[in-house]
Amino acid sequence: MFGLENDRQTLERQLLAIECKLANAEERSETNRYVKSWMKELKSVAYKADNVLDDFQYEALRRQSKSNESTSRMVLGYITRHSPLLFRFEMSRKLKNVLKKINKLVEEMNRCDLENSVNREERQNPWRQTHSKLDETTKIFGRDDDKEVVVKLLLDQQDQRRVQVLPIIGMGGLGKTTLAKMVYNDQGVHQHFKLKMWHCVSDNFDVIALLKSIIELAVNGRCDMPDTIELLRKQLEKVIGQNRFMLVLDDVWNEDESKWEDVLKPLLCSIGGSGSVILVTTRSQKVASIMQTLRPRKITCLNEQDSWEVFAQNAYSNGGQEEIELTSIGRCIVNKCRGLPLALRTMGGLLGSYQQVQEWKAIEESNISENVRGKYEIMSILKLSYKHLSYEMKQCFAFLAVFPKDYEMDKDKLIQLWMANGFIQEKGTMDLTRKGEIIFDELVWRSFLQDKQECKHRYGYVTVNCKMHDLMHDLAKYVTDECASIEELTQQKALLKDVSHMQVTETELQLISGLCKGRTYLRTLLSPSEYYKDYKVLLQVSASLRALHCPLLQLSFARP
Ligand SMILES: Nc1ncnc2c1ncn2[C@@H]1O[C@H](COP(=O)(O)OP(=O)(O)O)[C@@H](O)[C@H]1O
Ligand SMILES: [Mg+2]
Repeated sequence: MFGLENDRQTLERQLLAIECKLANAEERSETNRYVKSWMKELKSVAYKADNVLDDFQYEALRRQSKSNESTSRMVLGYITRHSPLLFRFEMSRKLKNVLKKINKLVEEMNRCDLENSVNREERQNPWRQTHSKLDETTKIFGRDDDKEVVVKLLLDQQDQRRVQVLPIIGMGGLGKTTLAKMVYNDQGVHQHFKLKMWHCVSDNFDVIALLKSIIELAVNGRCDMPDTIELLRKQLEKVIGQNRFMLVLDDVWNEDESKWEDVLKPLLCSIGGSGSVILVTTRSQKVASIMQTLRPRKITCLNEQDSWEVFAQNAYSNGGQEEIELTSIGRCIVNKCRGLPLALRTMGGLLGSYQQVQEWKAIEESNISENVRGKYEIMSILKLSYKHLSYEMKQCFAFLAVFPKDYEMDKDKLIQLWMANGFIQEKGTMDLTRKGEIIFDELVWRSFLQDKQECKHRYGYVTVNCKMHDLMHDLAKYVTDECASIEELTQQKALLKDVSHMQVTETELQLISGLCKGRTYLRTLLSPSEYYKDYKVLLQVSASLRALHCPLLQLSFARP
């Protein structure tokens, strides 16, 4: 179009390249502040570039619709705001600007060997191995029923010829490993199984490593055999023999079905004496569905009383007084943890080291991810789940930070918002909505979303709603600074120039319009309940909008 075509095509190519770079840099930005700030800059340029391309599309559409107009109107067009000459001039300036910025950032990346430098840092962070020993100094609360059910299920398999697999599912920090340890150390279990083995899988679902480890656990010594599956298979059969065994595979992430079905299952599930079992812990329902032979045990968050006990055990362990004021602040903090033992334990421990009411109050008033222990001991564990998502799913998940905590999300609306923002990529002939549904289901399966339920409405139509655990919300906020509330803007915890997605009332919208003097880079604008009456304000902030949703008006549109 108008001789700008070359630049436009370059920009499109650059945008694709940026997407790849962002996907690669995302994980690394965690360990390196320089990469983080570089990435932020790149993202903002990518949005600007996207806006420029949108202007092209818009102009092309506008022309198409005007092509039937009379000659006099077309002549007029050359001296009005929509003049092709003006458009060309304006676009050329914008295109050059954005291309220059992109080139500068790419140059910077190459000059500083950004990608490799971060790889080195990452390697120093090995994953944590678990073991089967229970810490006897800390009490476990609220898991006796779970333990009883799991133990009974395992013992009930005594007549089964083939090895049975029982998964324990739940989000990170919910206590799956702890429950597996309780079962592993149970007296009845101890007497029932001739051989008990504990293997922490985590990211390493390598067949050879796994077989070797099981052999080593069975013989209590080293396995120096060559890396040949057939040899290892024979050795495994020899060392397990006809013993009834229990194998715990802790923290499994593998979603490659063929790796289990074709390789490991035939090797592991046909050995040992009758009644042998494998207990798997995982955050993902998908992993469970691949491996299970028994119905998985889903564990839930702790109730209020047990939550308090876990918290208090750590918060008051230094002999601190349970003063009335501290207790009431403690209750609020426990409430923030929403029954997640990892958070209760960490926050309890953190507060146990403070005795001043002001210090407790500061923690009460902040998000869990905002203090050092919350960030490193809770968010880093939850973040593991995030790391296992595809780039596409990461974007869709991070976007959920736009909703307030405890918000009930509507599946269809969510998918529309993802689509409008271009988070979902086309794949073959699959419809984008269908792809959105798959992403939604995966987020549920991987415990990012919870309480999924169908709601039947008066006129017979059905919607699917779900919520997010508060700490998952913290995680979404932690991984993106593109979503902010009006409070965060006014308290300057977020900057309007970085924010792309917001849910605001009309009054808040006026405030934003005032703050930004009519110019924002907002891409999503959601009205929580009422509709916006003042369209002037709406138009002022909507230059970059991809999605607008006003429920009562049923007004919702997406820019092409
Ligand atoms: N029911 C419980 N009572 C007390 N502490 C618990 C309980 N469940 C888990 N914890 C503690 O919470 C933390 C996370 O538990 P863990 O079993 O590692 O979670 P997961 O394996 O689900 O990620 C651990 O420090 C553990 O000791
Ligand atoms: Mg675990």
